[in-house]
Formats: sequence, C-alpha cells, structure tokens
Amino acid sequence: MTDADFDYIRKLLVDRSAIVLGDDKRYLVEARLAPVIGQLNLPSISDLVGKLRFESNNGLATRVVEALVTSETSFFRDISPFEVLRKTVIPELIAARASERKLTFWSAACSTGQEPYTIALTLREYFPELANWQITILGTDISTDVIAKAKQGVYSQFEANRGLPAKLMVKYFQQSGTTWQLDAAIRNMVEFRQFNLAAAWPMLPKFDVIFLRNVMIYFDVSTKREILARVERTLAPDGLLVLGGAETTLNLTEAFVRVERMKAGYYQRVARECGHTIILRKSQS
Ligand SMILES: C[S@@+](CC[C@H](N)C(=O)[O-])C[C@H]1O[C@@H](n2cnc3c(N)ncnc32)[C@H](O)[C@@H]1O
Repeated sequence: MTDADFDYIRKLLVDRSAIVLGDDKRYLVEARLAPVIGQLNLPSISDLVGKLRFESNNGLATRVVEALVTSETSFFRDISPFEVLRKTVIPELIAARASERKLTFWSAACSTGQEPYTIALTLREYFPELANWQITILGTDISTDVIAKAKQGVYSQFEANRGLPAKLMVKYFQQSGTTWQLDAAIRNMVEFRQFNLAAAWPMLPKFDVIFLRNVMIYFDVSTKREILARVERTLAPDGLLVLGGAETTLNLTEAFVRVERMKAGYYQRVARECGHTIILRKSQS
C-alpha cells in the first residue's frame, strides 16, 4: 500500500466515523481490507482506492469503513461494571424511579449486541420486581453489519463462552448446532439502530445509564469533547455514564466526575452554579 493510499483510507475513516488511525496502523488497514479486495476481485488496495475515488457514494465507502472498525466485545465485558450495575446502580435507580416506574439504558457503541443484551439479561435475571416497569434499552452502532448481527442475537460457541455465565446461557439461549440464539423475550427488550456518534444526533430520550465503552479511545480530543457534551445533554441529571477501562473524562470535560465508590468506570453529572460544583446524584455510601 502506498503512502497516498494509506492517507486516503485514513481520511475516509476519520471523515465518516471520527476514528483516527495512527501511522503505525498500516498493517491493520492491509489486514482488514484484504477480505474486501478479495470479495471484489480487485488486485490490490490501490485498485480499491481508485474505485473509492470515483464511486464514493455507492456503498463501497461504507463497506470499507465497516471493515476497518474494531468491533471487539463480549458478554459481561470486564465483569465489574456489570456487578456494580446489579449490586448498586439498578437498586438505587429502582428506589429513585419508584413513582415513574421507568428505566432507560443506552449502549452507544454496542457492536454485535453483547453489551445491551448483558443489561437486558441482568434486569430479567436479577430484578423480577421490574416486570411491570417500562424498560427501554437502546443499542446503537455506526456499523450496519454489527447491528444486523445484534438483532439476530445468534452467537458462536466461542462468543457465547466469552463472559456469559453457564447458568444464563442454558436459561436464556437455544442451542442450534454450534450456535446459540438468545430467546426472543430478551432480544425484544433491546431496540437496535444504526447511529454515528460523530454525526448529527437524532432526538433521544433522557437516559438513566449510558454505556459508552471502548469507543472514545478511537477518537481525537475534540471529537471526545463534542460527544461528551452531547452525552451530558442526553443523560438524566442523576444518571450515570459508563466508560471503558482505558477511558476517562479527565482533561476533556468538567461536566462529569468519577463515582469513586462505584469504581469500574462510572461517572456522574455535575452542575456548576455560581462557581460551586453540585453533585446531582445522591451518594448512599
Ligand atoms: C470495540 S467495540 C466496543 C463494543 C462495546 N461497547 C464493548 O465495550 O464491548 C467499538 C464499537 O464502536 C463502534 N463505533 C466506532 N466508531 C463509531 C461511531 N463514530 N459511532 C458509533 N459507533 C462507532 C464500532 O463499530 C464498534 O462496534
């Protein structure tokens, strides 16, 4: 791949998704585009770039972007955010929302669905008292490919084994050969939509918990700031933002503070009034 081809692909990716690829990601571009050039019977990445230059509106650019994004995920990924969700966050929300009987969750870069389905499984398995509540779980991702897979809720043995407790696998999945399909009752708890965090946002409800995990690492500082500002406006005043283990709001915004007692990447909104910082969420510890 020539420098010009690499730069063209990097620009396409950042323009379409805000994902920034460093100089050291040449191997990644070559590896991820190899199947695309194979499927199109093209001799090389240069030919693909040539095609892109002339046909940038025919879906090819989308295909290239989708091939380049990292969609690594798993059920109960990193475990501790979901333990905190079960032991602390949901019980506190149940108390705080007792009159509305409504809870809203958003998995904002949900990949193939394991993250929003983990939320759904947690609610269904551990909180029978929510049976008559209005529960919204939204799963969104830039990639139409991963959204299509998420909607099916069908996982390989390997994907199902990654993080899913055997008890939940047996109780909520149907095995068919070497794949496992999540029961419709759990699939129907999650609404999936294609949605680019770096483009204009549609109207969204206020969420109680927003999972924005393992996606901001790919963005530059100004994109991170812009997305966090929009997240702040989309989160309930006492809601929680959950980031990935390698992510932080530090040096990006003062609109959030890390919730120390919750560990595991939980952040709460702060409101600044007359020079004072007011924490909007009551601490029960
Ligand atoms: C590494 S996965 C993380 C999945 C899940 N949140 C987790 O932590 O397991 C990152 C996901 O972010 C999505 N993504 C990348 N850029 C995006 C953007 N601009 N808007 C929405 N989703 C994006 C990718 O398609 C990918 O599925």
